[in-house]
Amino acid sequence: MNTRKTALVTGANKGIGREIARQLGHKGYSVWLGCRDLERGEQAAADLRNEGLDAHVLALDVTNDASVQAAAVTYGKASDTLDVLVNNAGVATGGYTAPTEASLDDMHALYEVNVFGPVRVTQSFVPFLRKAGQARIVMMSSSLGSIAEQLDMTSGTYGVNLLGYNSSKSALNMITVSFAKELAAHGIKVNAANPGYVATDLNENQGYRTVEQGAAIAVHLATLGPMGPTAGFFNDGAEAAPGRHAW
Ligand SMILES: NC(=O)c1ccc[n+]([C@@H]2O[C@H](COP(=O)([O-])OP(=O)(O)OC[C@H]3O[C@@H](n4cnc5c(N)ncnc54)[C@H](OP(=O)(O)O)[C@@H]3O)[C@@H](O)[C@H]2O)c1
Repeated sequence: MNTRKTALVTGANKGIGREIARQLGHKGYSVWLGCRDLERGEQAAADLRNEGLDAHVLALDVTNDASVQAAAVTYGKASDTLDVLVNNAGVATGGYTAPTEASLDDMHALYEVNVFGPVRVTQSFVPFLRKAGQARIVMMSSSLGSIAEQLDMTSGTYGVNLLGYNSSKSALNMITVSFAKELAAHGIKVNAANPGYVATDLNENQGYRTVEQGAAIAVHLATLGPMGPTAGFFNDGAEAAPGRHAW
């Protein structure tokens, strides 16, 4: 029987998610890469296995109830506990459209991934998380979801006024708090992570941080000890000690 701790990372075939899985794998976790495209996921898992890691793919489209439920059934055949869930899958579609002109259809599709996706996956996998005892859930948020930062005219992101993306991450922050309050009684800590501006496909590789740096805060929050925080929003810990981000 596999006695390693287990971690599921959604959107793990590339970008920050793949790196979170890699770093957790190097910490000894059996990592499950939730990927909507099995072929791309299998390639990512094979790369991690080539590094000596215990990596598996789980077909998982966070927007699709049947896919997420099937993923839970498949996972349940391998383990009845889950120590870490990182809700990382996200999109930033819609471009730089003025809020008054933003497409509701685009916004709806974006919310399906960034907002309802993490809720759907958390609800489906919570039985495994409860059974693990001290499980950890990490929500991949963004500084763009910080209402305080969006109102701060001196902030570097003040002008990045993306109706769909920013509000989706604000909603995810409240979802973090909401789950954290319920799940504290089960020893489960739920926190939101801001990875910083990371060069990935999400931003056409414009970010100035590496995926290694972007993954660090999520990995830190995924591996918190019993005295660690819950219901928080945290900056990256790659260059300094992790700090609280303004909501
Ligand atoms: N990069 C940044 O600067 C930055 C900053 C702040 C926050 N974030 C957040 O960090 C997270 C990871 O982003 P990233 O920069 O690594 O972007 P990325 O390289 O574009 O990766 C996004 C991942 O999400 C997956 N995904 C998209 N829709 C999905 C769905 N319906 N079901 C399952 N997986 C889905 C993608 O899979 P496919 O390959 O199949 O599309 C991909 O694996 C996101 O939540 C993002 O909002 C990123």
